[in-house]
Amino acid sequence: MSYLAAENRYDAMPYRRCGNSGLKLPAISLGLWHNFGDNKPYDNSRAMLLRAFDLGITHFDLANNYGPRPGAAEETFGKVLKQDLRPYRDEMIVSTKAGWEMWPGPYGEWGSRKYLMASLDQSLQRMGLDYVDIFYSHRPDPETPMAETMGALDAIVRQGKALYVGISSYSPEQTAEAAKILKELGTPCLIHQPKYSMFSREIERGLTDVLRETGMGSIAFCPLEQGLLTSRYLDGIPQDSRAAATDNHFLSSAAVELQLSHIRQLNVVAQRRGQTLAQMALAWALLTVTSVIIGASRVAQLEENVGAIAKLDFSAEELLEIERILAST
Ligand SMILES: NC(=O)c1ccc[n+]([C@@H]2O[C@H](COP(=O)([O-])OP(=O)(O)OC[C@H]3O[C@@H](n4cnc5c(N)ncnc54)[C@H](OP(=O)(O)O)[C@@H]3O)[C@@H](O)[C@H]2O)c1
Repeated sequence: MSYLAAENRYDAMPYRRCGNSGLKLPAISLGLWHNFGDNKPYDNSRAMLLRAFDLGITHFDLANNYGPRPGAAEETFGKVLKQDLRPYRDEMIVSTKAGWEMWPGPYGEWGSRKYLMASLDQSLQRMGLDYVDIFYSHRPDPETPMAETMGALDAIVRQGKALYVGISSYSPEQTAEAAKILKELGTPCLIHQPKYSMFSREIERGLTDVLRETGMGSIAFCPLEQGLLTSRYLDGIPQDSRAAATDNHFLSSAAVELQLSHIRQLNVVAQRRGQTLAQMALAWALLTVTSVIIGASRVAQLEENVGAIAKLDFSAEELLEIERILAST
């Protein structure tokens, strides 16, 4: 059946300026790290992408290696784009990245010009796109000179293969250096993509200051801590959850156990606010970052998470209570 986007798709979602740039991002973006690979039903992946777009999510975050099979998420996205979303391409911000291991040999990972340029060409082919909106260096490379990696990002923009560039998981010092080089080259660094959630607050120790000083926007990955900051694990570890998945080693049952007391206490605060825990966790992260990239395994999660936008503000008492809970053992 042919897809027609919801007419009211822009009515509720806030769009927030990304740093000093002209680009606005939806408060909530959708990431395709999990649930869009060969191991998941295409119909479910497609339903989530279309529902997201209908809910005002204009930004879709990918990377060369998202799958499994690395590359599969970009192919799934390309298929949905071709089948349904092509008429809306100019209403969408599509990002991809290169940095982690993608193909064998010395040119298939890290930050060389050789790897970044070849990888983006492959990503464009898999998605059936002429350009991406944002291209990222997915991780800092301790061996390649920063000037080479940033030079490649600048060249990619000049070639018209990306409109903006960003960096992910760079330290505050590396971020300042990358921003300086890119500014000199005339291609400002649009955005930093760090991990950030109530349970992962490293960016508060220096990075947010650098982002403010350089005028860079920010978009948090794993804002729900892979599902820990939702109602998913309140009553044990469901069979169909990420923590129970045998083909995924990013979230362990031990991590669930470790945070369970915090999760339960935070859930009480969320309920008092008239929100779910997932909604409160996203609203909290949005106090610090431009946008949050959520993951979802089903449409209902996506719908619940977008509900966060109904209440984004916190009282000073609520913030203090959250701090107290997070500091408790
Ligand atoms: N730059 C980087 O290095 C990097 C690294 C990691 C991720 N990312 C980006 O960040 C995106 C998000 O990462 P993530 O998937 O880990 O994010 P997340 O939003 O922290 O976790 C998403 C997972 O939490 C569960 N969940 C979400 N909403 C829920 C709800 N309302 N109720 C119950 N469970 C819920 C689902 O897991 P179940 O399977 O249990 O349902 C879902 O797949 C990725 O897709 C990617 O684009 C970037």
